[in-house]
Amino acid sequence: MSSLVVLAASAALLLIPAGSTAFASQLNYRPVIGVPAQENIPGDSHAQGFSYIAASYVKYLEAAGARVVPIRINRTYEEYVKIFNSINGLLLPGGDVDLQKSEFSRVSKIFYDLAIKANDALDYFPIWGTCQGFQQLTVLTSGKNLLTLTDTKAVALPLAFVPAAQNSRLFKNFPKDLLQSLSEENITSNFHSWSLSVQNYSRNAKLKRFYKVLSTNTDGRREFISTMEAYRYPFYAVQWHPEKSPFEWIDKPGMTHTPSAIKASFYTAIFFVSEAMKNQHQFPNISEEEKALIYNFAPVYKGLGSIFVQNYYFD
Ligand SMILES: *[C@@H]1O[C@H](CO)[C@@H](O)[C@H](O)[C@H]1NC(C)=O
Ligand SMILES: *[C@@H]1O[C@H](CO)[C@@H](O)[C@H](O)[C@H]1NC(C)=O
Ligand SMILES: *[C@@H]1O[C@H](CO)[C@@H](O)[C@H](O)[C@H]1NC(C)=O
Ligand SMILES: *[C@@H]1O[C@H](CO)[C@@H](O)[C@H](O)[C@H]1NC(C)=O
Repeated sequence: MSSLVVLAASAALLLIPAGSTAFASQLNYRPVIGVPAQENIPGDSHAQGFSYIAASYVKYLEAAGARVVPIRINRTYEEYVKIFNSINGLLLPGGDVDLQKSEFSRVSKIFYDLAIKANDALDYFPIWGTCQGFQQLTVLTSGKNLLTLTDTKAVALPLAFVPAAQNSRLFKNFPKDLLQSLSEENITSNFHSWSLSVQNYSRNAKLKRFYKVLSTNTDGRREFISTMEAYRYPFYAVQWHPEKSPFEWIDKPGMTHTPSAIKASFYTAIFFVSEAMKNQHQFPNISEEEKALIYNFAPVYKGLGSIFVQNYYFD
C-alpha cells in the first residue's frame, strides 16, 4: 500500500483533524468561495438594490486562486442549501449590520450550521471571518453577543502572538520574516468599534472550548482577541483586515500598504483558499456554475474617499 493510501485509510477511521492534508491526493484546484452580501449602509449614495459586497474581499480571494459566488440575502433556506452544496468555503466579510437581527446574520447562521454538520460528517468545509465576520462567528458559536466597545476604529497594530500561534494551522507555514513583521510592525488594519475581550472569551465556555486564540491586541484599556482558529473545525477569524492593504485606498490612519502588509494579506488568503481546495462540492453542471459566479455583476466605483473603493450591489 502506498503511504497515501495508508493515510487515506487511517483518516477514514479517525476523525480527520481540521487542517489535515489527508486529501492531498484529491485537491480541488478550481475552488469556489461563497461571500454573503449584507444590507446596504444607510445613506450610501452609490447603492443599487438593497445589499452589497465590498469588492476588496472578492479581489482578495481571486488573487489567491479562488472564484467567488455572491450569496444574496432574503433567499429561501432551500436555495442556500443548494449553494452550500456547490461551494468549497465561506468568507464572512466586514461591514456594519446587526449580528443577531440582520439578513446577513440569518444567512451566516444557515451556512455556519450547514458547515458544522458537513465537517462532522467528514465533508471538509472551511469558514473565514474578517472583522464583522469574526464578530459574527463569536455570536454564532456562543449564541450571544459578548462584544465590548474598544477604541480601535482606524489604527494599524502589530499582532501580539500567543506561543501557540507558531504551531497553528493558520500561521505555521508563514515565512519567518513575515511572522516577525506581523509581530513588530504596525501592519494589521483595525476598523472596528466592537471587540471580543480576552476576559469575555475566557469566561464563556462555548467560545473557550471552540476557538484557540492565536493573537491579541489592546486599545490601551482592554485586551481583545485579534486572531483565532477553531480547534476541531477549519474555521478562522481575524478582527483585522488583511484585504484592505492591497485593495482599499481611503487615505486615513490604520491603512497600511507596505510590502510586508501586502505579503501578510496574500498569505492569509492563500492559506484559506488552500483549505477550500480540500472540499469537493461542485455545481450540478457548468451552466449553473456560470450563472452563480460574481462575474455576472460589475462593481461600482465609489471614490477614493470611500471606506470601500468598489462595491458589488444586489437586489
Ligand atoms: C428581506 O427580508 C426581511 C425579513 O427577513 C424583510 O424585513 C425585508 O423587507 C426583506 N427585504 C427585501 C428587500 O425584500
Ligand atoms: C462582556 O459581555 C457583555 C455582554 O454580555 C458586555 O456587556 C461586556 O461589556 C463584556 N465585557 C467585557 C470585559 O468584554
Ligand atoms: C504602532 O502603533 C502604536 C499604537 O498606535 C504606537 O504606539 C506605535 O508608536 C506604533 N509603532 C510604529 C513603529 O509606528
Ligand atoms: C443543470 O442543472 C440544473 C439544476 O439541476 C438543471 O435544471 C438544468 O437543466 C441543467 N442544465 C444542463 C445544461 O444540464
